[in-house]
Amino acid sequence: MSNVDPLWVDLDFNSPMAGCRASALVASLPLRAARVVDLGCGWAELLLRCVAAEPTATGVGVDTHEAAITHGRSEAAARGLADRVTLQVGDAAAWSGEPADVLLCVGASHAWGGTTQALAGLRTFVRPNGRLVFGEAFWTRPPTPEALQALDADVDDYGSLADLVELAVGAGFRPIAVAEASTDEWDSFESRYAGAWERFLLTEADGAEADEVRARADGHRARWLCGYRGVLGFAYLTLGVPSG
Ligand SMILES: C[S@@+](CC[C@H](N)C(=O)[O-])C[C@H]1O[C@@H](n2cnc3c(N)ncnc32)[C@H](O)[C@@H]1O
Repeated sequence: MSNVDPLWVDLDFNSPMAGCRASALVASLPLRAARVVDLGCGWAELLLRCVAAEPTATGVGVDTHEAAITHGRSEAAARGLADRVTLQVGDAAAWSGEPADVLLCVGASHAWGGTTQALAGLRTFVRPNGRLVFGEAFWTRPPTPEALQALDADVDDYGSLADLVELAVGAGFRPIAVAEASTDEWDSFESRYAGAWERFLLTEADGAEADEVRARADGHRARWLCGYRGVLGFAYLTLGVPSG
C-alpha cells in the first residue's frame, strides 16, 4: 500500500489517547532529571512529549517497527530533542538497558506474550520510587462472540479493569492512578486509524491497490463497530514501585 499515508499522518498516538489525557499524564510524572524509557514506543510521541516537558529528562525508545522509529527520530530532531532522545529498532522484551525512573509501555504487552508476563518483565526496569505508565486492554463486560472473533482473542486474554489492577499489584506495583479511554477517544482513534485508507478510496476506486485498501478498511470497520466497540476497554495505569 505504497500510496497510502502512514498512521502518524492521522494519529498522534497509536493508541486511544486524547491530547488532553497525554498532557495530564505527562504533567503527573516525576520527570525532573528522569531517565524515561518507552518499550514498544511506536513513533515515540508520548516519550517525546515527556522529554519536551522537562529539560533535564532524557529518553530511550524501543520498537520493532523501523519506519516508526525513523519517523520518531525525525520528530525528535525537529523539536530540538535529538541530543536527549535515543530511539532504537529492537525487541522490547529482549531489551536490557539501564532501569528507568519513568517507564512507558502503552499497547505493547504482546511483545512479552501477555499482560502478566509484560508486568513481570517491566517491573525489573523501573527504579525504586519510579513509575510505570502501563496502557493495556481489558474487557469492559464479558466479551461477546463477535468481539472475540474480531480481535482473534480468547476470553482469558484479558480480565476486567479490576483484574488488571490486581495483576499490577501482584507484580509489585502500587496503583497511583487508574483511568480508561473514553468512548470518544476510542472512536477518534479507530476513525483516524482508517483515515488514510478512506482518503485513498475517495480518489482511487479501481485497481489492485484500491481492492486491497478497501478490504482493509471494510474489515477494520466491521471488526470495530460490529465486534469489539464497547467491549474492549483500554486502561491507563500509573504504577509506582516502592522504594523500600
Ligand atoms: C499499539 S502500538 C502502541 C505504540 C505506542 N506505544 C503508542 O501508544 O503510540 C504497539 C507497538 O508495539 C510495537 N511492537 C510489537 N511487538 C514489539 C516488540 N516485540 N518489541 C518492540 N515493539 C513491539 C509495534 O511495532 C507498535 O509500534
